[in-house]
Amino acid sequence: MDDLEVTQLSPAFGVEVVGFDPADPLDDATRQLLQELFDDHGLLLFRDLELSHAEQVRLCKMLIRKEGLEDGDAGPEIEDNFYISNKRPDSAVPFGRLQFHSDTMWADQPFEVLSLYAIDVEAPVVPTTFVSAAYAWTTLPAELRARVDGLEVLQTAGEVRRGDLTDVVVTTVERPPTTVTRIAHRHPRTGQTILYICEQMTKEIVGCSPDDSERLLDELFDHLYDPANQWSHPWRNGDLIVWDNIAIQHARQNVRTDGPARTLRKVATPIPQLSFDQLPSYSTAD
Ligand SMILES: [Fe+2]
Repeated sequence: MDDLEVTQLSPAFGVEVVGFDPADPLDDATRQLLQELFDDHGLLLFRDLELSHAEQVRLCKMLIRKEGLEDGDAGPEIEDNFYISNKRPDSAVPFGRLQFHSDTMWADQPFEVLSLYAIDVEAPVVPTTFVSAAYAWTTLPAELRARVDGLEVLQTAGEVRRGDLTDVVVTTVERPPTTVTRIAHRHPRTGQTILYICEQMTKEIVGCSPDDSERLLDELFDHLYDPANQWSHPWRNGDLIVWDNIAIQHARQNVRTDGPARTLRKVATPIPQLSFDQLPSYSTAD
């Protein structure tokens, strides 16, 4: 493959990679470069790609060094049927605003990698906004680090209501899965420490009163979601973003079903094991 051009997208995380053709055979040097970029920066943007579903799956698995992962272990990637869209029938989250989160953060082993490929978007498209929870940990003031030392939080797929809930999508789950994780979470692949809380799914700090829990979480959210640390991407057809779902969180402003087309093909892997009554459905908060 020809030399790739790499440009930093924000001071905190993310790079754009120019010159990558998913149809070309992947040589060892390119594979290693892309894996290292992914580990170091957490998010890769490629533009103007012609990308099949199979190529999207292959790239996602390669970046987390799981090229041998069987399709049977990988859930939604098996078929080309997983879309975030306000136009396409039977798509996920067709409307509403999404608060910051990592997908399936309430699972013991959440998705390691997420990707969205823009197949049909019309301007003005609602961007996807990202923040780095890895960067947030490295920049967390020492006083706050000391206060969260050893603390754990309850992550839930059930309802969490906090902040401005206008247009926010809430998920409804019959039997919501939960997990308990450390606030200073060790990333399973990179070993980085992650500020592992999110406004959408982190219910409470274990062993704290509700008021103390919410006060400390608010201080941490103020740092994590500092607008200076956010990066937004207004989609164009042919854009692919692949990101580390544990280190990087995503959000979006309100999407309307009667607004411009916004259809993104999603590949997420590996999928946590869930039963049917643990799969969410979506509605708005108000
Ligand atoms: Fe998501």
